[in-house]
Amino acid sequence: MDKKEQIDIRWHLGTISRIDREKHKRHRGFTVWLTGLSASGKSTLACALESALYEKGCHTYVLDGDNIRHGLNNNLGFSPEDREENIRRIGEVAKLFRDAGIINITAFISPYVKDRQLARSLSDQNDFIEVFVDCPLEVCETRDPKGMYKKARSGLIKGFTGISAPYEPPEEPEIHLYTHHLTVSECVQQMTDFLIDRNLIS
Ligand code: ADX
Repeated sequence: MDKKEQIDIRWHLGTISRIDREKHKRHRGFTVWLTGLSASGKSTLACALESALYEKGCHTYVLDGDNIRHGLNNNLGFSPEDREENIRRIGEVAKLFRDAGIINITAFISPYVKDRQLARSLSDQNDFIEVFVDCPLEVCETRDPKGMYKKARSGLIKGFTGISAPYEPPEEPEIHLYTHHLTVSECVQQMTDFLIDRNLIS
């Protein structure tokens, strides 16, 4: 017997479905999952993509690593287990947003392939778009907006992604953005073109 059976928790279907909500909003609910090193450009691109979609009249929401760690995930650190739990929760939150018919853009390092796969496994085939925000470590380190790479190099921060903790690049992301070569608007264009091609937005 699993935990849910023991305490008799059952799925309750409401009267309004995801399809109803999507009709109301005139677009699908889907997830754009940005993954990449700290300072690779995830948060910047999430906000820029959100603005572009908002201008088109879409209903959007950005789930950003630093922000979510202030609230929902403020009890988690950066051990592999805590990062796994961080991404598991966000995978579930993203699923709720899809069910609500909202376009959600997530900006988490999400360094482990298996954790990103779990988040993807909660989605339908067409509504989870993984975007590799690809920027060489040396460039991220030069940007270092919060001085964290410097602290990680000097040993002040342990287990820092790219320095003393791993980053596993996506094997088959739907979109691969080389953020050290492209401007923000070129990246946004690449993402919106893809979404239009997939008939997720018009
Ligand atoms: S994740 O690995 O669990 O996906 P998440 O995206 O939520 O990470 O948070 C990353 C942010 O936390 C970074 O932008 C950075 O500012 C901060 N941070 C603090 N400690 C670490 C660390 N050890 N490794 C990576 N980022 C860290």
